[in-house]
Amino acid sequence: MVMSSIKETIAPHGGHLINRVATAAEKKEFMAKADSLPRVTLDLRATSDLVMIAIGGFSPIQGFMEQKDYESVVDDMRLANGIPWSVPITLSVSEEVAEPLKEGNWVRLDDSNGNFIGILELTQKYHYSKAHEAVKVYRTDEDKHPGVKVIYEQGEVNLAGPIWLLEREAHPLFPAYQIDPAKSRALFVERGWSTVVGFQTRNPIHRAHEYIIKCALEIVDGLFLHPLVGATKSDDIPADVRMRCYEIMMENYFPQDRVILAINPSAMRYAGPREAIFHALIRKNYGCTHFIVGRDHAGVGDYYGTYDAQHIFDEFKPEELGITPLKFEHAFYCTRTEQMATAKTSPSQKEERIHLSGTKVREMLRRGELPPPQFSRPKVAEELARAMQIKS
Ligand code: ADX
Repeated sequence: MVMSSIKETIAPHGGHLINRVATAAEKKEFMAKADSLPRVTLDLRATSDLVMIAIGGFSPIQGFMEQKDYESVVDDMRLANGIPWSVPITLSVSEEVAEPLKEGNWVRLDDSNGNFIGILELTQKYHYSKAHEAVKVYRTDEDKHPGVKVIYEQGEVNLAGPIWLLEREAHPLFPAYQIDPAKSRALFVERGWSTVVGFQTRNPIHRAHEYIIKCALEIVDGLFLHPLVGATKSDDIPADVRMRCYEIMMENYFPQDRVILAINPSAMRYAGPREAIFHALIRKNYGCTHFIVGRDHAGVGDYYGTYDAQHIFDEFKPEELGITPLKFEHAFYCTRTEQMATAKTSPSQKEERIHLSGTKVREMLRRGELPPPQFSRPKVAEELARAMQIKS
């Protein structure tokens, strides 16, 4: 299909897709200046945020947030111009790092290996309240919460301004699945899909995931299976293992012509409801019209109610978000009907319901047990067990 004939089915958040990847000429200019610029080293989260901004995954955001956007997002879940946005995108550094940096100047951004990866046009430096951000965004100030822990460990000063990514490099582990928003949008059109449901996941795929995905697939044209491969907490299953599980699902259990598997480079925040909105807006930028929100989406521990991540969508007008959440109840294996179900579809009593979750699967694997077929497809369970054995 000729690219120019492609009509996009859904507008990116804020109206157009941001592209902050340096052009060849910009890259040349940045490279020439690189040695003379002050340097800031990005952690894993900021590195993936830089990439997401550059490829348009965070449209309409063009850089690390200035104070007015930051405060408005933290307090009201909106950018200063009123557009919904639920999670702050910030670059936090220590006082010592921030002090010599001058507003109005360029800063060279390095990854944790010292590679030059981007430029920040520093427009503002500001202090912020960690406890306030934690309570508003994560609904807790406990540093046991993995997202809150990150805030307490990061610097006291936010550096803000537009960014450029020096180069869009192929993902070192999953180059074949690196499908950026401009490409996914084109792919959806090529496949003739006018409705596409996005699926966020950070866990090895289990039967409840498969069930809600397939329920969604019954009502839309295509599925964008979009596992997050950026930073996760240390006890989550590593991305390469999870990707092999998704590949097994693609090869054996999903209709390949109706599913696209692609990586989401961003980092997990574990911000539950706020992150559900964030995850939905990201998928809107990739071209999805619908987004799956199941039980305790992006939750951790007991910090959020089972359906808080669904209720938060009611705080916005549907047209403001521009992507439709598909909400699913807690799915389980029903021994009476011998299939996956939820309380909406199963007449079963409590004792006839086998509940499963990513946490349970992780616990079983750690104990050396193979998740049963009611939890995981056997081929997926075998792959997980193999990976855990190698690890231990
Ligand atoms: S998440 O942090 O990315 O949300 P996970 O990969 O486990 O974690 O979940 C992916 C999606 O599946 C989320 O929308 C989540 O709510 C949903 N989900 C996970 N387990 C279940 C379940 N048993 N029933 C219904 N939805 C579920």
